[in-house]
Amino acid sequence: MPKDPDTTPTAGPRHVAIIMDGNGRWAQARGRPRLFGHHAGARRVREVVEACPRLGIKYLTIFAFSTENWKRTQVEVAGLMSLFRRYITKETKTLKENGIRVRFIGDRVRLDAKLTELMDTLEHETEQNDLVHLTVALNYGGRDEVARATKRLARDVAKGVLRPEDVDEETLPKYLDTRVLPDPDLVIRTSGEARISNFLLWQSAYSEYEFSDTLWPDFTAAELERLCRSYGARERRFGAVPA
Ligand code: IPE
Ligand code: IPE
Ligand code: MG
Repeated sequence: MPKDPDTTPTAGPRHVAIIMDGNGRWAQARGRPRLFGHHAGARRVREVVEACPRLGIKYLTIFAFSTENWKRTQVEVAGLMSLFRRYITKETKTLKENGIRVRFIGDRVRLDAKLTELMDTLEHETEQNDLVHLTVALNYGGRDEVARATKRLARDVAKGVLRPEDVDEETLPKYLDTRVLPDPDLVIRTSGEARISNFLLWQSAYSEYEFSDTLWPDFTAAELERLCRSYGARERRFGAVPA
């Protein structure tokens, strides 16, 4: 049986996931290269993370790089990878001191060794923290995640650790990258696009969505607060009839 969802109205979402989109267009509007927008976008993350405790957000998951983003030019991809390395190096101390526990989801295999080393260190350095759980999706794709999870599940069946007849809705999530996280209550996408782009496919089955026209480098804590309030006014039904 699936977990009994908590349908009691809450003031705000406990787990917010954000598709941080629009960096390229923000730069383009200023006649600057796309990477200029990515740097401006990265600088927005701190304010958003710091706003979480006061908004009651315990889990924040942000989409930084998708499995499809490798299709971009080599200059943009290399620039983004270098930005991730620099960002982690620069922010580790603050994240640690501010009680933020950082995790990464996505396939690390295609990422370079220097970057994965920094990711491992940041996860390790912040593993005692519990104020906000920040998850960064890096080389993440929902379909890729389900495929990797299925591969691990199939291996357990082959080993005799798991019986096919015992596989149910509760089984697959235990193999997903997000296995220790609750499902997102609210998924936000910036930049006016109304699509999911392969983000948290399994986990967002019953998430609420908010689409904002703001380009990510212009996104603020005030807007996050407004979107959380709008979420609080909604009624989540999970397929049931309201009482
Ligand atoms: C989101 O901004 C950041 C990444 C996908 C890495 P975009 O780079 O997609 O910006 P737009 O959508 O082209 O404006
Ligand atoms: C989704 O944005 C991925 C991230 C924000 C990291 P994209 O800009 O890559 O998505 P599409 O191409 O518009 O669907
Ligand atoms: Mg985009």
